[in-house]
Parts: sequence; C-alpha cells; structure tokens
Amino acid sequence: MDRCNNPFCPGAGFRPPELVGRSRVIEDIEVALTRVRRGIPDRSTFMVGLRGVGKTVLLMHLKEWAESKGFMGVEFEFEESKKLSEMMGPPLYKALTGLDKIAKVKDVVANAIKGLTGLVGTMRYEGLELGLRVANSGHSNFDLLELMRLVGEAAKSNQTAVVFFIDELQYVPQNELATLIVALQFCATESLPITLVGAGLPQLLGHAVKAKSYAERLFYFPEIGALEYNDVVDALQKPLEKHDIKFSDDAIQKIFEQTQGYPYFIQQWGRDCWDVAKEPLITLEDVRMATIRAIDSLDAGFFRSRFDRCTPTERAYMRAMAEVNSLTPRSSDIAGVMNKELNQLAPLRASLIKKGMIYSPAHGDAAFTVPLFADYLKRTVSL
Ligand SMILES: Nc1ncnc2c1ncn2[C@@H]1O[C@H](COP(=O)(O)OP(=O)(O)O)[C@@H](O)[C@H]1O
Ligand SMILES: [Mg+2]
Repeated sequence: MDRCNNPFCPGAGFRPPELVGRSRVIEDIEVALTRVRRGIPDRSTFMVGLRGVGKTVLLMHLKEWAESKGFMGVEFEFEESKKLSEMMGPPLYKALTGLDKIAKVKDVVANAIKGLTGLVGTMRYEGLELGLRVANSGHSNFDLLELMRLVGEAAKSNQTAVVFFIDELQYVPQNELATLIVALQFCATESLPITLVGAGLPQLLGHAVKAKSYAERLFYFPEIGALEYNDVVDALQKPLEKHDIKFSDDAIQKIFEQTQGYPYFIQQWGRDCWDVAKEPLITLEDVRMATIRAIDSLDAGFFRSRFDRCTPTERAYMRAMAEVNSLTPRSSDIAGVMNKELNQLAPLRASLIKKGMIYSPAHGDAAFTVPLFADYLKRTVSL
C-alpha cells in the first residue's frame, strides 16, 4: 500500500492515529483539573509506566484539552542531571507573565515578591526582581512553595488555573522531589488553582514515597500499561476505516501476541503491515513478513538507542538480567549469572536505575523499563 498514506506512527511522543484505551485516566484527570480550578482541592497526578506506553502522548492530549477549556498549561520535560530550580524557574516565570493581565494580579505578585529575600537566580517581572533561591540555600522548600503560592494566587485572581505538565519526572533528584511534593500539597490545602500532571518511569512512585512517605496517599499515580485486546483491535482497525482496508482477525491476534499490547510496538507492527500488504485485507502472512521488519526497526532504533547509553559493565549487568528467566529477576540471581558478589554489583544497579534503564518493582528485584528488552538483549548480545 502507498507508504506515504500509512497512518501508523511509531515514535517518541508521536500522536497515534487513534488514542485508545485511556478514556478512564483521561476523565479522572479532567475531573481533578476542573475541581482544582473551582477551588475544590484535588490530587496532582503522576502517571507511571514503561517506555513506549503513551505517557507523553497523554500529557500532550491533556494539555490541549486544558488549554481548550481556558486553563493555563505549562509544559516541559525534566532533563537528567538538572536541578529542580533550573527546570521549574522558567516555567513559573512563563506562567506569571501569562497571567499578567489584570491590575489586581500585579498587586498580588508585588506583595508576594516582597516576602522573598536572599535571592540568587533573578528574573525580570514588571520591574521587580523575581528570584529563585537555589536548592543549596537550604531553604528550597520555602522558595518553591512561595513561588507556587504566588502563581496560584495570580491564577485565582485571573479566574483560571495553572497546570504544570512535566514529563520524565523520574529524573528529579530525591530531595528536590520532596520540595515539589511539599509545594503541591501546600497549594492544595490552600485551595489554590495550581496543580501538576506529571509522567515518569515506574521508579517515580518509589522515589516519591521515599521523598515523602505520605505522597502515595496525596497524589494520584495511575499506571499506564499495555493495551487490552479490544483496544488493540481499535488501535489497528480504526485508522484504516477511511482507507477501506482491514486486518483479518488472525492477523490482529498475531500482532497482539507479538506486541503484548504495548502501544509503541502496535504502531510499529501497524506501520510495517501496511507497508508489506498488497491487498486491502491485511492477512496473517502479511503480519509474518511485517514481523521481521518490525523487529529489525526496533532493534536498530527503540531498543538500540537505550542500550547505547550504557557503559560496557552496565550492558553486561543487563545481559545477565535477561539471562535469568524472570520478568523481575532477583539481584542475587543476576550476581550468580555474573559470578560476582551482590555488594560488588550494587553501584551498577543504582546507576542503571538512575539512568532509567531498570527499576526495582520490589525489594531485591529488578525489571527493565523498556518492554520486551530482555528478548532484544538475548537476540543481539552474547553473554
Ligand atoms: N493509547 C494509544 N493507542 C495507540 N497508540 C499509542 C497510544 N499511546 C501511545 N501510542 C503510540 O505509542 C508510541 C509511544 O508513545 P509515547 O507517548 O512516546 O510513550 P512514552 O512517553 O510512554 O514513552 C507512539 O508511537 C504513540 O503514537
Ligand atoms: Mg515519553
């Protein structure tokens, strides 16, 4: 079929032709945002899930919804090895300038700024120096909280709400995550219309709970996972309707088996099936041919790009993980495959968690943050 019309789009943050299986989480978040804007406290959201399940796409979808309803959305992706103050400062500033519409707001801003002393990084706001005391001042909790309160009050005066859409939150250092949690909780208890919709790898939940033990109760942590069979049928068939093309039932069954319902892989298989098919009914035989191409593409891109970020010893650790025949191999079994002592491997394990390659679903266990990564390692890396 004409490759230029192929609707499927595997790629980080690429909007799928049909966003399936997420209506519940979307509705829950829309309700929380609406309540916050009405001055009723509700929980901030931290979506957690493996790579390629559609977290970024959900953030973008929700931001568009929020903006269409008159919320002020501020979006950014947290970068590895950056500080919260560096990452949050510009978006907070952007929110304030965006809210700078009515005179009343200017008074609110001016008053709150007077309360801030000992400022380091400074930014211009209406002739005032709005500063962000950086984390190592020892008062970072207070500073971020004060700035968020300020933005929250400005939003309230403007009869809107500010929503931060932050991706890759697993990279926020633990002590700084505590700062963010305290600030969000403060704003919720004050019924200020400022909230967060975040996303991150599964380690985010553990980081948040370690940062503040009450985090799990105060925030909403929806798990974004693989799609169920019926949703996979829709993800594949619906984009084809307007082209008068269909997958046969056994073709879909095979794709479900191969992809295990993971959204990125569904887009990849969908794309390759379209490209190899010659007739408007995509058959099991087409899927067989497409599978070879799909795996080649994933190995060269999706999987490989992650693997390349690791050092040789980290790669050896992951290869040993794949060898232990379990979705959540125990650290002791990994050490066994590598012929090493457990404590020798602890720093490697920690650096892989920090890089976002693996996480620990339970004490002493490890799992890959990339779905089907163990199969990739077994097919491409020798032990
Ligand atoms: N609900 C969905 N239905 C179908 N495809 C989806 C869905 N969510 C995401 N995708 C596809 O999956 C891929 C990965 O999405 P992305 O948002 O980048 O994942 P993540 O941020 O979790 O790594 C993209 O190609 C996207 O089009
Ligand atoms: Mg993403």
